[in-house]
Amino acid sequence: MENTKTWFGEWFNTRYYHILYKNRNNDEAKAFMQNLVSFLKLPKNNSILDLACGKGRHSIFLNTLGYPVIGADLSKNSIDYANQFANNTLKFIVQDMRKPFNIKVDAVFNMFTSFGYFDEDSDDIKVLQNIEDCLNDEGVAVIDYMNVNKVIKNLVNAEVVTRDDIEFNIKRHVTDGFITKEISLNENDETLHFQERVKAIDLEKFKHYSKQANLKIKHIFGDYNLSDFDVENSDRLILILTK
Ligand SMILES: C[S@@+](CC[C@H](N)C(=O)[O-])C[C@H]1O[C@@H](n2cnc3c(N)ncnc32)[C@H](O)[C@@H]1O
Repeated sequence: MENTKTWFGEWFNTRYYHILYKNRNNDEAKAFMQNLVSFLKLPKNNSILDLACGKGRHSIFLNTLGYPVIGADLSKNSIDYANQFANNTLKFIVQDMRKPFNIKVDAVFNMFTSFGYFDEDSDDIKVLQNIEDCLNDEGVAVIDYMNVNKVIKNLVNAEVVTRDDIEFNIKRHVTDGFITKEISLNENDETLHFQERVKAIDLEKFKHYSKQANLKIKHIFGDYNLSDFDVENSDRLILILTK
């Protein structure tokens, strides 16, 4: 579980990740969280684990709604940032999601494709087992993943994205069941290379994974407005799971 040498230990801990994805912002998180807690009818005192919380955009908003929240992430830099918002009912911890949490909560949220990073399926399943383990008997888990069918069909092989005066040269390919983004950029006369490598987990594979972790898929949505999932057209694959 050494994380310094993995692509996800490195890339997500850089400021470049946050610059490239700055359009996935607090407003997007707020709208989605409002829709989700309304749908789930989650009582205000229910505790939530935001698993792989990043800088905490979902955790912070959920806490303002009245929920006690723990945000956990592997990236120390992101947790250091999130900690400025911590309070008695909002905590942030650095932790690998493959390791047991030894807590019980009413809901676990895993947002914005924070899954599918590991080579071995057994590690993905371990994450789901950890989620199951953290949940109270009546608890609910939510996994917000990309719709790999649409992503693969519309894959842009190469593009240049400019954000905050940084040119990100991005190349994408699907190899060995992973959707891989090779990212390079120049700063201070230096060329830096990063990778994002996320497993092409479709609904069938999630069904298999969930079974292994004793979780049941109760609802499937296709976007942050909680529209029905459509394998061809949906942007997201959002799963609502219970024990
Ligand atoms: C795509 S980002 C999403 C972050 C956050 N959920 C959001 O929507 O802003 C994925 C997050 O997963 C975290 N992560 C990657 N591998 C992890 C691991 N093994 N354990 C815990 N967190 C991990 C990264 O550090 C990163 O913050």
